[in-house]
Amino acid sequence: MKILVIGTGYVGLVTATGLAELGHQVTAVDIDFKKINKLKKGIMPFFEPALKPLVIRNIQKQRLFFNINLKNFLDKSQFIFICVGTPPKRDGSADLKYIKQVVRVIGQNIKESKIIINKSTVPIGTGLIIKKIIKKYFPGEINVVSCPEFLREGRAVSDFFHPDRIVIGSDNQKAIELVANLFKKIKTEKLKTTLESAELIKYAANAFLATKISFINEIANLCEKVKADVQIVATGMGLDKRIGPSFLKAGIGYGGSCFPKDIRALKQIAGGNGYHFRLLKAVIEVNYFQRLVILKKIKLIYPRLKNKIVCVLGLAFKDLTDDVRESAAIEIIKKLIKQGAKIQAFDPQAMINAKKVLNYRIKYCQNAYEACKNAQFLIIATEWPQFKKLNWQKIKHLMKNDIILDGRNLLDKQKIEKLGFKYIGVGR
Ligand code: UGA
Repeated sequence: MKILVIGTGYVGLVTATGLAELGHQVTAVDIDFKKINKLKKGIMPFFEPALKPLVIRNIQKQRLFFNINLKNFLDKSQFIFICVGTPPKRDGSADLKYIKQVVRVIGQNIKESKIIINKSTVPIGTGLIIKKIIKKYFPGEINVVSCPEFLREGRAVSDFFHPDRIVIGSDNQKAIELVANLFKKIKTEKLKTTLESAELIKYAANAFLATKISFINEIANLCEKVKADVQIVATGMGLDKRIGPSFLKAGIGYGGSCFPKDIRALKQIAGGNGYHFRLLKAVIEVNYFQRLVILKKIKLIYPRLKNKIVCVLGLAFKDLTDDVRESAAIEIIKKLIKQGAKIQAFDPQAMINAKKVLNYRIKYCQNAYEACKNAQFLIIATEWPQFKKLNWQKIKHLMKNDIILDGRNLLDKQKIEKLGFKYIGVGR
């Protein structure tokens, strides 16, 4: 099938590459000229494991093309995927300006019937708005399908080929079947529904996962008061099939480009429809305060942070990504800087992006050992698995004091304490 993908961010690039790998002819367009030129040469705009070789392979097989000229490819493709950003407005609601811009261009330039598939996370009712805009310019039949994306950064390629489900929503059954057929090689449940339900499934899924995280963070805080261990509590809860073990890792709160934005947007959507979604307000609040919990623990040890050397391991919002958007690590660092602390940080992938937000207000180190040198205490802020395998004995010698604040419960508490560290986890 001939497919056009609009937008080459995480969702667009993975979708385009995945569809090409499934055997389709895919052109991915973006207004960013530099990005497209780099992609043509196989240079990735962000770090995502396993994506680069797949992009190169599909370019070489002549199934994947990159271009800046949207108009030229509209009539060459039967399926048009919209994968542009929906950034938050000041009030938290999703800004549809990029979607509307793109849809206008589609409406003004198509000459025959198309299937427009929206993958961007959008407020409920956006599918109908898309249809209306196109109808203004194009008199023929237009089918809009919502096919929300559930991929995780860092695991996006595997998520594309092995999803838990593919959701396809439209008011046209034929369009649903045609889109389902694009993914026929992917063996998974294909949930066929209406536009509105598909659009809401995306927000509901992200909001539920964020709720799980805020819930376990609350349990962790309670664990500290009653001398229980949140990891055991989470294991015990997760063994119940109705609960399940995933997304029950306590820590410093969720971050990233999706959860914080989507949970706020869903709250706005509910409000806009006259419904006060009490639970979401609490989820957002708990997540905000969870970042402060670690700072309170630091304050108990060091009431004054001026000129204290602090090692921070991890800057990304989670492991396996270079993304620092809404990263709890960055927020915590900003607060420590404000109080005069001197930060020495290391992240295996996210240092370039961190520099864009923090500038040179902190020291960026070559490796974890350099970051630990003479530090009064160490914070683990991102759950990179390689931090577990560091030579912690060596780190103990390098640090000035032996305090570890493990914001992700990454380390084996007993082993670390045996080495002589004072270990402070979350809810342990
Ligand atoms: C999330 C969803 O998991 C995807 O299904 C969805 O497609 C995506 O948003 C999106 O809407 O585009 P992502 O933002 O890549 O994916 O990150 P997650 O792996 O979900 O992690 C989000 C945050 O929660 C991270 O800061 C992570 O450290 C934190 N987290 C996750 C916890 O604190 N505890 C957990 O148990 C799990």
